[in-house]
Amino acid sequence: MALMKVGLVGCGNIGADLCIALQKGTILAEIVALTDIDENRAKVLHRTFQLNAEICGLEENVASADFVIECAVAGAVKDVVEACSRHRRDCLVMSVGGLLQCPDLRDRARESNIQVRIPSGALCGLDGIRAAMEAGLHSVTLTTRKPPKGLAGAPYLVEHGIVLDNLAEPLVIFEGNALDAFQAFPQNVNVAAALSLMGIGPTETRVRIIADPRATVNSHEVVAEGAFGRLQTVTENLPSPRNVKSSYLASLSACAELRAAAIAFAARCGQEEATNR
Ligand SMILES: NC(=O)c1ccc[n+]([C@@H]2O[C@H](COP(=O)([O-])OP(=O)(O)OC[C@H]3O[C@@H](n4cnc5c(N)ncnc54)[C@H](O)[C@@H]3O)[C@@H](O)[C@H]2O)c1
Repeated sequence: MALMKVGLVGCGNIGADLCIALQKGTILAEIVALTDIDENRAKVLHRTFQLNAEICGLEENVASADFVIECAVAGAVKDVVEACSRHRRDCLVMSVGGLLQCPDLRDRARESNIQVRIPSGALCGLDGIRAAMEAGLHSVTLTTRKPPKGLAGAPYLVEHGIVLDNLAEPLVIFEGNALDAFQAFPQNVNVAAALSLMGIGPTETRVRIIADPRATVNSHEVVAEGAFGRLQTVTENLPSPRNVKSSYLASLSACAELRAAAIAFAARCGQEEATNR
C-alpha cells in the first residue's frame, strides 16, 4: 500500500514527536521533506531519525508532499496554507493562532478544494462543541490555569508590567475574547484559537487565564451552553516528555491527525485504483 508523503514545516519538538510516532510503523506515512527557518534543526531531525527526506524550502516541500504539517510558528501559517492551496495539498496547522491572524485563509483554502485540519491540541471537548454548533451555542468560555513560570515572557505581562515571581494566590491575569488572548499570549492560546474556530468564533469565545502558584500542571476548562444543554470539560495536561513547555496531548493530537489523514489518503488511492482498473 502506498505511503502518504509528508512535508514537515517546523522541525522542533512536535516535529520530533511526529517522527517518533512514524518510527513505530503503524501510520501509513513517511516524511519526504523538511523545512525549517533554522536549517540545523532540519539536519538534526534528518540525522536522528535517519529520514529519507529532502531539506528544502517551503515551495519544494509542498510540491513534493501529499500532505503538509505546519508545526513551526503562527507567523508561518499564512505562507504554508497559501502554498498548499497553490499545490492542492491538504494540511495540518498546529499553530492554530496563525489562522486567527488571517481570517479569510480557510475560505481561500476551501475554494482551492483543500482541507486544513485543525488539531484538538491540548484540549478535550471539541467534538461536543462542533456537534452543538449544528443547533447553535449561546456562550463558550475557556479558563486556562498555568503555573506562573509557564506564562513568563508573554507580551501582555511585559506590556502591563505584571510580575508573577512571588505570587502566593491564584491570579486572573487576563479576561477577554480569543482574538485578544492570542495577541496577548501568543505562545499559550492555541487551544483558545481551536475552540473558537470550532465554535462561535474568536470574538465571541471568552477566555480567562489564571496564573496559579499551586498548579502543578497546565489545565483547561471549557464551559459551553446552547440549544443542546450545557457542557463542561476539564483537561489536565502533563508536559511532553521532550519539552516541558508543551503539553504532551498537543503532540499526540498531531499524531492522531496524521494517522487520520493517512487513512483518508489510502482510501482515496484505493478508490482511484479501483476506478482505473
Ligand atoms: N495546537 C496546539 O494545541 C499546540 C500545542 C503546542 C504547540 N503548538 C504550536 O505548534 C508549533 C510548534 O510547536 P513546537 O513545540 O514544536 O515548537 P518548537 O519551537 O520546538 O519548534 C518550532 C520549529 O519551527 C521552526 N520555525 C520557526 N519559524 C519558522 C518558519 N517561519 N518556517 C519554518 N520553520 C520555522 C523553528 O526553528 C523550530 O525548529 C508552535 O507554533 C506552537 O505554538 C500548538
